Amino acid sequence: MSIHEFPSSHARRVKPFWTLDPSIVYLNHGSFGACPRVVLEAQSRLRERMESEPVRFFIREFESLQDQAAAALAQLIGANPNDIASVPNATAGVNTVLRSLHFAPGDEVITTNHAYNACRNALDFAAVSAGARVIVAQVPFPIASPDEVVEAVLSQTSPRTRLVLVDHITSQTGLIFPVERLVAELDRRGIDTLVDGAHAPGMVPLNLDKLGAAYYTGNCHKWMCAPKGAAFLHVRPDRQGLIRPLSISHGANSPRKDRSRFQLEFGWTGTSDPTPFLVLPESIQFLSSLLPGGKKELAEHNRMMALAGRHMLCEALECEPPAPESMIGSLAAIPLPDAKEQTPSSPLLLDVLQDHLFFKNNIEVPVIPFPAPPRRLLRISAQIYNDADDYRALTQALRAYLTQTLSSSILSDR
Ligand SMILES: Cc1ncc(COP(=O)(O)O)c(C=O)c1O
Repeated sequence: MSIHEFPSSHARRVKPFWTLDPSIVYLNHGSFGACPRVVLEAQSRLRERMESEPVRFFIREFESLQDQAAAALAQLIGANPNDIASVPNATAGVNTVLRSLHFAPGDEVITTNHAYNACRNALDFAAVSAGARVIVAQVPFPIASPDEVVEAVLSQTSPRTRLVLVDHITSQTGLIFPVERLVAELDRRGIDTLVDGAHAPGMVPLNLDKLGAAYYTGNCHKWMCAPKGAAFLHVRPDRQGLIRPLSISHGANSPRKDRSRFQLEFGWTGTSDPTPFLVLPESIQFLSSLLPGGKKELAEHNRMMALAGRHMLCEALECEPPAPESMIGSLAAIPLPDAKEQTPSSPLLLDVLQDHLFFKNNIEVPVIPFPAPPRRLLRISAQIYNDADDYRALTQALRAYLTQTLSSSILSDR
């Protein structure tokens, strides 16, 4: 099968596994994931257990449930469970590291122009309040090769560089960045890397022990289909002494000797609903059950669908694919003609086209200003509940909209 053909569809069979609104063409799994029924049911059962006797649950049972979830997650991400902290989301994971490192005046921290806005804000906050400087490496988009990422970042390093914050899979542009090469090259220069892997778990294979990044945070509520609020922070053992949770709690002065201080501090950060993390074994089991080849086949299937969807849209828009296939997982971004309408002034506001596709065509797909308005990208997601018809519907709706609002010369006649 050509990489531009849609893989055979499983959508009809698997769609009922999710609670997604059947009237919506859902092409935005990337933003918030989508949690399947079976996992939500497991979470409800766990919540009932928690509320049936909260003291028994939190004092007597919670730690071993947390250990089981961490062990299942550790296997998926190639890590030692003792090096994993449960955090509510990748934003918290990034903030935890940045707020722990205490930059000094004159320090330099590097990120890229593809960084996620919330995490870029966290970096600016931590750096500016310490008198450190944020350097933004310019990674081109369209991009010809992962080498361009490595060159852009490494060219900004200096003896003052304290940390590099880099996305594993970029949010706006949906690119897999070559984090293995970056971490190794930066390590050689004595520079630590904080990898923002918000989209990576469940989308690309992970082996965090082998990667060797000082810090890696990832969401489980996106491509692992866990409930919202399940994420992790992985800290290399030699850096665990530096990293403190955002909430200092009982672990700080616990006399226990059976766990590391890192585990004690992150294992309890105050009362909250821990069930999203605790049902990770069910999420992983669900992902494994969808196709005969398990999680690996699922990721490959989704990637083929993202590439085929991208091809269809690029043909309709008469544009070249903006990135090599090797940099694509289950997300793909395609440049759109510049916005003629008012463009959003904040990432939380939606582009007029995104609203149009939703309200007129029942299609949920993000339109993202990048690198800055009026330039913008359309970012498709591919999850096994999608099929070729979803991307066809999007292509037709887009063509109709652009014909109506912009010069039709950029569109093909098909
Ligand atoms: C690269 C990246 N980092 C961080 C985040 C933030 O994730 P969360 O809102 O779960 O913290 C996202 C969300 O899409 C993202 O794409």
